[in-house]
Amino acid sequence: MPIDSEAIDRWLAREGIAPLNEEERSTSEQLGQRIRGEIEAAGGRIPFRRFMEMALYAPRLGYYTGGRRKFGTAGDFVTAPEVSPLFGRCLARQCAQILQKNGGDILEFGAGSGRLAVDLFRELERLGSPPRHYAILDVSPDLQAVQRETIKRELPEHLDRFQWLERLPGRFHGVMIANEVVDAMPVHRFRIGKDRIQEEFVVWNGDAFIPYWNGETSRELTDEVAELMGELGQELAAGYTSEINLSAGPWLRQLGEGLASGAILLIDYGYARREYYHPERDGGTLLCHFRHRAHGEPLILPGLQDITAHVDFTALARAALAADLRVAGFATQGNFLINTGLDELLHRHSSADSHAFLKEIQQIKTLTLPSMMGERFKVLALTRGITEELSGFSRQDLRHRL
Ligand SMILES: C[S@@+](CC[C@H](N)C(=O)[O-])C[C@H]1O[C@@H](n2cnc3c(N)ncnc32)[C@H](O)[C@@H]1O
Repeated sequence: MPIDSEAIDRWLAREGIAPLNEEERSTSEQLGQRIRGEIEAAGGRIPFRRFMEMALYAPRLGYYTGGRRKFGTAGDFVTAPEVSPLFGRCLARQCAQILQKNGGDILEFGAGSGRLAVDLFRELERLGSPPRHYAILDVSPDLQAVQRETIKRELPEHLDRFQWLERLPGRFHGVMIANEVVDAMPVHRFRIGKDRIQEEFVVWNGDAFIPYWNGETSRELTDEVAELMGELGQELAAGYTSEINLSAGPWLRQLGEGLASGAILLIDYGYARREYYHPERDGGTLLCHFRHRAHGEPLILPGLQDITAHVDFTALARAALAADLRVAGFATQGNFLINTGLDELLHRHSSADSHAFLKEIQQIKTLTLPSMMGERFKVLALTRGITEELSGFSRQDLRHRL
């Protein structure tokens, strides 16, 4: 896919998307130049993982680090907290069960617009267990500023309880939460070649960033994919292409080692490993979002579009065990929300106005229906020092799939 403006304009027109404005063009061009510089300095190519990292997180120009609107109808995609406050309220009920027994604070990773923090805090307050501190750790300085504004506007009387961290605290008691964070981590792309595992690199051909598969695969990637195939008990066919997140395991292990007592709740779209690397899923799960259009062209529009990959929950559960955590529950988002009292909350909060009520019903469908977010999204709970069963998994527990 060419990057020159005319070709991009043609692509946007074909997809039915409005043309880029001047600011978007300029941001993407600047980031493109920076990536080209890095490709040149690296001798002509960079791993796809590095391209994705720069496209999403390059200082001031990346998708998450630049100032563009990302979430909600005016952005590129909608996350569960942006769909309905009921998502945060249900999550709060799970947190309340843990905090009432264990005590402690909340630490949210990748808090996006700050929506979840507001809904969660309000419900915890209503339940009589507001955390003394609500910490946020987000790699994007731009989003940190957005979160601060949201909380200042919606919870001004509690602003002093919120704090933004630069790094993980040494020891933490309470509940750590990450909604749609792991899917935003850069991944390696691999392909099964005739006689070796190939890694995707990105090169610049004078017009566009294009994939390049003939470079030397990193040792780490070769080992991980070989281990993966050993575990699946089958060879993947030549040509099978997918991705692997080598950052998520070490990240989670670090979280686990910092958790003195309490829980980690990870919510994301993804699968257990066998399902993720199913022979029929032979193109991987990489997906881009630009103005509510999902497509499979990660090398275009650098800095303007989201690039994500599904989450391998088995890899997360393994990293948790390595950090001596207990894998306490694994369920679909739909079931988790129902188990934490979605129906009860709906009755309590539902609007008297029939228009608003119908809208709420539609939002609940989006969060819970298997064809929408209900099944593709999963909740993984990891605990330390908590023996009680968690309410969110009372009627469905899919740990055997991990
Ligand atoms: C897809 S957005 C989800 C935002 C929000 N949680 C929601 O559900 O609306 C991903 C978020 O994760 C952040 N992020 C990505 N990698 C991270 C990491 N390693 N640690 C903390 N935040 C991270 C991004 O800056 C962004 O805020």
